Amino acid sequence: MSRWAIEAQDLCKRFGSFLAVDRLSLCIPHGCVFGLLGPNGAGKSTTIKMLTTLAAPTSGSARVAGYDVSTEAVQVRRRIGYVPQQQSADPDLTGFENLLVFARLYGIIEQRRARIVEALELMDLADAKDRLVRHYSGGMVRRLEIAQSMLNDPEVLFMDEPTIGLDPLARHTVWERVAKLRETHGTTIFLTTHYMDEAAALCGIVAFMNTGKILDSGPPHELTAKYGSGATLDDVFIRLTGQPLAKSGTHA
Ligand SMILES: Nc1ncnc2c1ncn2[C@@H]1O[C@H](COP(=O)(O)OP(=O)(O)OP(=O)(O)O)[C@@H](O)[C@H]1O
Ligand SMILES: [Mg+2]
Repeated sequence: MSRWAIEAQDLCKRFGSFLAVDRLSLCIPHGCVFGLLGPNGAGKSTTIKMLTTLAAPTSGSARVAGYDVSTEAVQVRRRIGYVPQQQSADPDLTGFENLLVFARLYGIIEQRRARIVEALELMDLADAKDRLVRHYSGGMVRRLEIAQSMLNDPEVLFMDEPTIGLDPLARHTVWERVAKLRETHGTTIFLTTHYMDEAAALCGIVAFMNTGKILDSGPPHELTAKYGSGATLDDVFIRLTGQPLAKSGTHA
C-alpha cells in the first residue's frame, strides 16, 4: 500500500488563459476525512475532477490509491467513488434500481444484491428502496448517491458538496453516515463543503483554497488556534479568502 491515499504535486488546470487550479500539492493519509474549503470558483470541483480522472491535468501529477491519475486512470477509477456536485440519481427509478444500474455499470456481479442492500442499510434507506427517487426528500437523494458511490467498496471516496441544499437535520444524518462509512470500511474521504461547522465536525484535515491555490491546511483545531484565540473555521475562512461566508455560500 502506498504511503498516502491521495498525493498531488504541482497540479494545474488551465481553461484557455484562465488558471483554475494553480500548482496544488497535497498529501492525504489513508482513512482521513479531508475537506477542501473555499469560495465559489476557488477550484474545488476542478481539483476533484482531476483526482477522479474526469479531467486531465494541464501539468503536475497526482496519485490516488497508489495509482497515477494520468497514466493509470483505469486503476484509479476501480478504487474510487464519486458523488458529483450536481444531482446524479435517476428520479424515474426506485432507489434499488438506481443502485442496480450502477452495479451493472461497474461490473459488480458477486453478491450484487447483498451489496446493494448493505449500502442502502448503511445510508438508512432500506425502507425506501422500492420508492421512486422523485418522491425522495433532498437528504434521501443525497444519501442514495452516497450509497451508490460506495457500492464498489472504494478506497477513496470523493464527495463534492454532499450536503448541498439540505436542512440541518438531513445534514446531520449525512454526517453520521459518512463517519460510519469511514469507521466501518476505513474509507479515505475527500469532500468539499461551504459549511464550516460541517468541516469542523467531520474532517481530520481541511485545506483552504482560493483562486486555484491552497492557502493553508491542517487539522481544524490547529488552524483555528493559529488564527487567534476563540477563532472558528468561519474566521479562518474570512481571514484567508477575504470573503464573508454569506457571499461564498451561494449554493446553500
Ligand atoms: N470547463 C470549464 N471551462 C472553463 N472554465 C471552467 C470550467 N470548469 C470550471 N471553470 C472555471 O474554473 C473556476 C473554478 O471552478 P470550480 O467549479 O472548480 O469551482 P468551485 O470551487 O468548485 O466552486 P463552487 O463552490 O461554486 O462549486 C471557475 O472560475 C469556473 O468558472
Ligand atoms: Mg464546485
